[in-house]
This record gives sequence, structure tokens and C-alpha cells, in this order.
Amino acid sequence: MIDVAFLGTHVRAADTAVVIDVLRATSTITLALASGYERVLVAGSIDEARALRADDRVLAGEVRCARAPGFDLGNSPEETLEPRGSELVLTTTNGAPAIIGSAEVAGEVFAASLLNLEAVAAQVAGGDVLLVCAGTDGHVSIEDVYLAGRLSALLEGERSDGAQVAEAVAAAYPTALQALQASRGAIGLRREGLEADIAFCAQESIVDAVPRLARTVDGVAILELAPKAAAVSES
Ligand code: MLT
Repeated sequence: MIDVAFLGTHVRAADTAVVIDVLRATSTITLALASGYERVLVAGSIDEARALRADDRVLAGEVRCARAPGFDLGNSPEETLEPRGSELVLTTTNGAPAIIGSAEVAGEVFAASLLNLEAVAAQVAGGDVLLVCAGTDGHVSIEDVYLAGRLSALLEGERSDGAQVAEAVAAAYPTALQALQASRGAIGLRREGLEADIAFCAQESIVDAVPRLARTVDGVAILELAPKAAAVSES
């Protein structure tokens, strides 16, 4: 069954959770791993992220979309294109808690964005799949539901009512960019002068990197690249 949790707080136990925060946490995680960071350490708060500071680690994160005070990077995917260390420590308002919450209850956890849409669809085998939309500040967000619908349409299996709702939302927008532009998340980005991130995150399937939960250590979810889907099916 393919199902959708429309908010990160609605996550439930599932064989596979695919966490979605198009604007911008899962886009940033995807691009960081595609760009050469070995892992992304997802922390639940600014203070937890600061406590993880170490040589070879880069601190990234936002408060109301703006770079967190004293951090090396904000939460713009493009900031990760040239790695400044081997590990990215990331904390964000909605995406990070959705990932950490999913890590607590799901058998396997992936992070999806439009940037790796086709790669995620190829990676997720089917079965009991929960598409977890992070949402924005406790509200359902168009861009996350849009991607859940796009992913649902690519996966094999029976669809829940929630998955059918997400597919209908996805079908309502001629382009990904229009869905992202219409969202509440885009308002915060425009307010901070980060409008370019909206178009960047609307790009589809530009990388084949799929972030997967490797382990959780003291509440920090550690994501690394999943082996390529073809290699998985051969093993
Ligand atoms: C979040 O996790 O709340 C978002 O990624 C916010 C943002 O766009 O920085």
C-alpha cells in the first residue's frame, strides 16, 4: 500500500518512509550527498547541531528560512555544491523533525526531492510505503503534497485515499515550479531574498543520489547515499 502522511507529525510505523521537504531540507540533503558530502547528520535543534561541531563538519541550517546564527551555511541546496568538509550537519524547522520522527518508527527511511524524483522511485521497491510530507510550521504544504503525488504515480501498488488525493494535487499543476510558487514555503523564501531556491528546487531528476537513513545516534539521524537501485535488485 502506498500511503501519505500529510504532515511530519502524522508519521506512523511503515516498512519504508520517504520523507519529503521540497522547500528545502530534503533538496539540500539530496544535493549535499550528490555533491560529495559523505553523510548528512540531521539534528533536531540549533543547539544539538552546534554540539556536533567538529573538524571536517560543516554546520547548515535555518531559522525562519534565514541562516542560523554562527552557522557555516543556510539551507539553500546550492550552498552544498562545493563540499567544505566530509560531513554536513543540518537542522531545519520542519524537514529535520520529519526525518528524525520517521527514523524512530519506519524500517527504512529515504529522503526525496524533485531533484532526485526518478532515482527515489526506482529505489523504493513497493510494499508498505509511507510518503511523509514535512509541511510548513504545522500546516500541509502544496509542494510536499505535489511531490508525494508525483512519487505515488511512479510507484507500483495499491494507493490509499491519501495517495489518490496527493496524485490529484500533482495533476492540478502543469509544472513543478507552479506548485512550488503557489506554496506557503515560497512566501518565507521570498521574504528572505531566497527566491532563487524555489526555481532550483523545482528542477526534476537532475541527480541520481538517494539519501537513506544509515543509523540514528543519540537522536541524530545520519543519512548516506543508498546504493544505486540496480545494484540493490542484483544483490
Ligand atoms: C524546513 O525544514 O522547515 C525547511 O526546509 C525550511 C527552509 O526552507 O529552510
